[in-house]
Amino acid sequence: PKRVRTRHFQNAKRDGIKITGLTSYDQLTARIFDEAGIDFLLVGDSAGNNVLGYETTLPVTVDELIPLTRAVAGAVQRAFVVGDMPFGSYENGPDEALHTAIRFMKEAGAHAVKLEGGERSHKQIRRIVGAGIPVMAHIGYTPQSEHGLGGHIIQGRGEGVKQLLADAKAVQEAGAFAVVLEMVPADAARQVTELLDIPTISVGGGPHCDGQLLVWTDWAGLTTGRIPRFVKQYANLAEVLGDAAKTWRADVASGAYPTDEHSY
Ligand code: KIV
Ligand code: NA
Repeated sequence: PKRVRTRHFQNAKRDGIKITGLTSYDQLTARIFDEAGIDFLLVGDSAGNNVLGYETTLPVTVDELIPLTRAVAGAVQRAFVVGDMPFGSYENGPDEALHTAIRFMKEAGAHAVKLEGGERSHKQIRRIVGAGIPVMAHIGYTPQSEHGLGGHIIQGRGEGVKQLLADAKAVQEAGAFAVVLEMVPADAARQVTELLDIPTISVGGGPHCDGQLLVWTDWAGLTTGRIPRFVKQYANLAEVLGDAAKTWRADVASGAYPTDEHSY
């Protein structure tokens, strides 16, 4: 299969073909999603909650995400792999941001990086793009600034749409090839999508965006905690795995496993 490149994102917007993305943190899911034709895989700092057992994404480090990104990038044949720059790895300025982005490209084999923030991150985006590294921007609700935003709150509501549009313009002008819109009203996301030449990728941004992205563990029903309302569950892996574990435990107890078939 032909690899997805940034031009695929641009062409998809032009041709009205929806872009799909899922998070992935390991080679097993990366291979499955790649073969299913998912366009891009985000090695999100949501690995903090989903893999590393943290309460939020804030403690996640570049050193933690590099091996996960390498696993995903090494497993795909077609999908575009985006490494997520964690909190504390780019806010200090363009030099720090470029340093981090280069680590994702060089040590992990990512095809692009993602970082949070609109106007506040435009200098970082410009520097990274200037070095030949594609950047996926991320505006609206930005989990790394949960405390600054005052909680898990929908962005771009009412007057907030002005800031959302300003952020969208800023990341496009800085050279981002796509922008994630997280937890914004569908109408605000529609306005951003119409305003921009680059594709918008919705995570809880409604149906008018150029693409959709979900955290795979939420989408596949592996997450057992609370999941956001915008997620639609396409499988119930927690139940499947839980049932398998119970059945196997009972089989071991009863002697039904292993049989001759499973023995040497
Ligand atoms: O880390 C992540 O999974 C993300 C997406 C939800 C946008 O940043
Ligand atoms: Na993230």
